[in-house]
Amino acid sequence: MLLLNMFLKRHTKSFSLLWLRLLLILLSIASVNGNEQKNFYIVFLGAHTESRGNALDTYLNVLSAVKESFLEAKESMVYSYTKTLNAFAAKLSEDEAKKLSAMDEVLLVFQNQYRQLHTTRSWNFIGLPTTAKRRLKSESDIIVALLDTGFTPESKSFKDDGFGPPPARWKGSCGHYANFSGCNKKIIGAKYFKADGNPDPSDILSPVDADGHGTHTASTVAGNLVPNANLFGLANGTARGAVPSARLAIYKVCWSSSGCADMDILAAFDAAIHDGVDVISISIGGGNPSYVEGSISIGAFHAMRKGIITVASAGNSGPSLGTVTNTAPWIVTVAASGIDRTFRSTVQLGNGKNVSGVGVNCFDPKGKQYPLINGVDAAKDSKDKEDAGFCYEGTLQPNKVKGKLVYCKLGTWGTESVVKGIGGIGTLIESDQYPDVAQIFMAPATIVTSGTGDTITKYIQSTRSPSAVIYKSREMQMQAPFTASFSSRGPNPGSQNVLKPDVAAPGLDILASYTLRKSLTGLKGDTQFSEFILMSGTSMACPHVAGVASYVKSFHPHWTPAAIRSAIITTAKPMSKRVNNEAEFAYGAGQLNPRSAVSPGLVYDMDALGYIQFLCHEGYKGSSLSALVGSPVNCSSLLPGLGHDAINYPTMQLSLESNKGTRVGVFRRTVTNVGPAPTIYNATVRSPKGVEITVKPTSLTFSKTMQKRSFKVVVKATSIGSEKIVSGSLIWRSPRYIVRSPIVINNP
Ligand SMILES: *[C@@H]1O[C@H](CO)[C@@H](O)[C@H](O)[C@H]1NC(C)=O
Ligand SMILES: *[C@@H]1O[C@H](CO)[C@@H](O)[C@H](O)[C@H]1NC(C)=O
Ligand SMILES: *[C@@H]1O[C@H](CO)[C@@H](O)[C@H](O)[C@H]1NC(C)=O
Ligand SMILES: *[C@@H]1O[C@H](CO)[C@@H](O)[C@H](O)[C@H]1NC(C)=O
Ligand SMILES: *[C@@H]1O[C@H](CO)[C@@H](O)[C@H](O)[C@H]1NC(C)=O
Repeated sequence: MLLLNMFLKRHTKSFSLLWLRLLLILLSIASVNGNEQKNFYIVFLGAHTESRGNALDTYLNVLSAVKESFLEAKESMVYSYTKTLNAFAAKLSEDEAKKLSAMDEVLLVFQNQYRQLHTTRSWNFIGLPTTAKRRLKSESDIIVALLDTGFTPESKSFKDDGFGPPPARWKGSCGHYANFSGCNKKIIGAKYFKADGNPDPSDILSPVDADGHGTHTASTVAGNLVPNANLFGLANGTARGAVPSARLAIYKVCWSSSGCADMDILAAFDAAIHDGVDVISISIGGGNPSYVEGSISIGAFHAMRKGIITVASAGNSGPSLGTVTNTAPWIVTVAASGIDRTFRSTVQLGNGKNVSGVGVNCFDPKGKQYPLINGVDAAKDSKDKEDAGFCYEGTLQPNKVKGKLVYCKLGTWGTESVVKGIGGIGTLIESDQYPDVAQIFMAPATIVTSGTGDTITKYIQSTRSPSAVIYKSREMQMQAPFTASFSSRGPNPGSQNVLKPDVAAPGLDILASYTLRKSLTGLKGDTQFSEFILMSGTSMACPHVAGVASYVKSFHPHWTPAAIRSAIITTAKPMSKRVNNEAEFAYGAGQLNPRSAVSPGLVYDMDALGYIQFLCHEGYKGSSLSALVGSPVNCSSLLPGLGHDAINYPTMQLSLESNKGTRVGVFRRTVTNVGPAPTIYNATVRSPKGVEITVKPTSLTFSKTMQKRSFKVVVKATSIGSEKIVSGSLIWRSPRYIVRSPIVINNP
């Protein structure tokens, strides 16, 4: 989600909903045609019967059947996805969509929806220092696709000094667009996708990033080394991506005012797969948890079939359980963790007492102390006292605020802009939500806990002329890793049998490149601009994993997406349930561990058929798998997937049924030896209380590299009490490698 901004969005939900409604009303007025409201739909067709060149004609013929004329069909079509998919997008009435779904040639029709976008230190913290072993030649052949808000061509992170020509297999392209004069040898592809035709005055119709989010994520995956990167002196260091020698292909699908449309996302997947990328990083989420509908799930499946790994953000809807998104097993789903640093400000009250708040406040105070007032006492109208306590726009009386710091409860982000806009100095904001996120402010401000808030309120009440001063933020050490409060949690709403998120990576206060086209906060009156910015979100965590997937791929160019994912999962550093009570539902297998991921020892590999067997086992109807597979599947004619979950996944999850006694899950797995041979692996099992876990055989002998061995894990859960989740594990250990699989048992 537009990171940073996602926090803004969350707290201004009512406003944005209002806007959205307005927009929808306007849109529907615009598209009313004989009383019929039209929307964009994506229509999947059966396997290509003719050459791709004729696909467009086929689509138009199909579409013409529900439209008045061929011309009308042509006008209504906004995309034909002919490269790797077999589908098109068009503006249809509900009735036309229904008619299309009933046609024999048509496999699936779904309505377009809009989704939202969901370092320096971070790489050292997780153990990928600049001195880490790299395969530069091979790394420079890796192409990473970013589906995001575009990028900033002027950024130092994307210069191409020292780069050779793009890899020969590259088929992508790069045009000249507004404010963009074309690619270089680092950014080898740049396109934008926006088919809804709605103008977006706050954005640029080009791959150029008007938001900053895409610039940030792209530089985190593969940005060049940029020394002395900092935000007004904070977080100073060398900014860089995981694979600074890799190439970037930019697919802009998210727009400042509308978000990210399914039909545009699908077009970007279609293009990226055709262009020949190796890794897709997508920090976008939301929507239907079904694995067989939705642009990201479908796009990632087609990518997987072409050997391309898709890494996606888990979402920013934590810490509530069951909020994780992008949960298809062919996607690597990334949670956000904190690194060992935070940003805090000291607030000195007029009585000499110091309290502390969190946030990025780049302002050195000019005065020693400023008068302090509670928003409640600055209300414009006595009826508005409650709203004034939140410092909502229009609720404060300017002459009561002028020259003062205002104490507000957190209702919506940007209160410092409201206060500054009417002549105030800044705000002390009280909130217990997201205590770990350092929000950036456009005027002096900091966030204090409700406990500290009480101290401040009492102080204000204790004196006739309360005052305070907020000092510039400083970098502080903290205990890490832990899962960020906002990071979406399992259990996986898409399947009871697949543990999601898969892995945690740094996503809290990450410094990376930004755009000078937007102020730091985007708030009214903000005059702060910087080439680097701190952002927080699973959006920031995702490119860390995409970067490591690229790093692994530079050592093993022929590994499948499943093998790379397995390497990332089984080498993750375990995190602690003492820190995150939701355990694996918060952090998956644990913290990303880049250097170990290169040499996992064993991998849990899979191919497309494996996922289809899994989907059949999950109860998906064969006909519903058509958008993934290209034709309807007959589940009963396939070999059934094995075991409890019918998937060769590197983690295991047994969901209990309510009010039932003992539940037994038999998990069948096959591992491939990707290390040297001969070698022997022995199993170590850790069973939580009330659960018995056994593995058979307990030892695996490999005489060759790439040899496969199968085993069986039996999980017998008698009671886990009222716990939401309990954790066990299976570790395969050889003299050189540790291959760890979390095993979780959860109550529904
Ligand atoms: C884009 O380019 C135009 C003309 O060169 C310029 O006026 C405008 O300010 C630029 N916009 C941005 C956002 O850089
Ligand atoms: C950042 O660090 C470098 C090297 O340690 C130093 O030369 C530079 O002055 C620092 N910049 C800031 C803004 O602190
Ligand atoms: C409060 O913080 C300020 C600024 O960091 C410092 O100068 C002062 O000594 C502190 N006062 C106390 C009582 O700790
Ligand atoms: C699916 O496969 C089964 C077993 O091979 C067969 O009996 C059945 O007729 C097939 N169904 C369809 C719709 O083709
Ligand atoms: C595995 O178990 C065998 C037999 O118990 C033992 O000889 C061997 O040392 C073990 N290997 C490892 C790596 O623990």
